Amino acid sequence: MPEITPNAPRLRPARLEDLDVVLPWAPDAEAMRMWAGPTIGFPVARQQFWENLHHVTGEAFVLCAAARDEIVGFGQVMHREDDFAHLARIIVSPTRRGEGLGRTLCRELLRVAPRFLSVRAFSLYVYPENVRARALYRSLGFVDTREERGFLRMEKPGLDLK
Ligand SMILES: CC(C)(COP(=O)(O)OP(=O)(O)OC[C@H]1O[C@@H](n2cnc3c(N)ncnc32)[C@H](O)[C@@H]1OP(=O)(O)O)[C@@H](O)C(=O)NCCC(=O)NCCS
Repeated sequence: MPEITPNAPRLRPARLEDLDVVLPWAPDAEAMRMWAGPTIGFPVARQQFWENLHHVTGEAFVLCAAARDEIVGFGQVMHREDDFAHLARIIVSPTRRGEGLGRTLCRELLRVAPRFLSVRAFSLYVYPENVRARALYRSLGFVDTREERGFLRMEKPGLDLK
């Protein structure tokens, strides 16, 4: 039986207008780079960001705090290579960090990915200096693999959730 927790934050597919809430969470070029990588400029128009999200096979989601339908997180799962589902663009509202929402967001993304992607393992890229994000990913079972183009690639074998 699934757990019934009516006030737990929940995922829903992202909509274009959600970007009006989410994009200001990266308020400068460095924050944008750390979140979305080097190819997204700053500032970025929401339409351009949206199109960039949809260059790939996958889905983007927002995490909503159920009580007020407040958007508190955003992330993307996409197909990259082999049977890897790749997590990207993970971010939590700056006013809500440190409450466990990043972990909830990632766990939910890992849980839903097999519904729309053929997946046997997960991967992601993170800047080595992003200590907070790396600690989060490690706590979910991701391990460091190798550096690629200035990023650290982390992988999580299997589909079990921590
Ligand atoms: C990375 C990010 C998503 C984490 O979200 P969060 O909601 O603050 O994370 P959580 O509260 O769920 O914390 C989960 C774990 O992350 C780590 N963590 C959280 N805050 C931390 C901090 N200040 N310092 C070090 N590690 C930290 C811990 O391992 C923590 O687990 P613990 O509470 O059991 O110790 C958030 O900081 C963020 O949006 N950063 C900006 C965007 C970004 O860099 N995204 C990653 C792109 S790869």
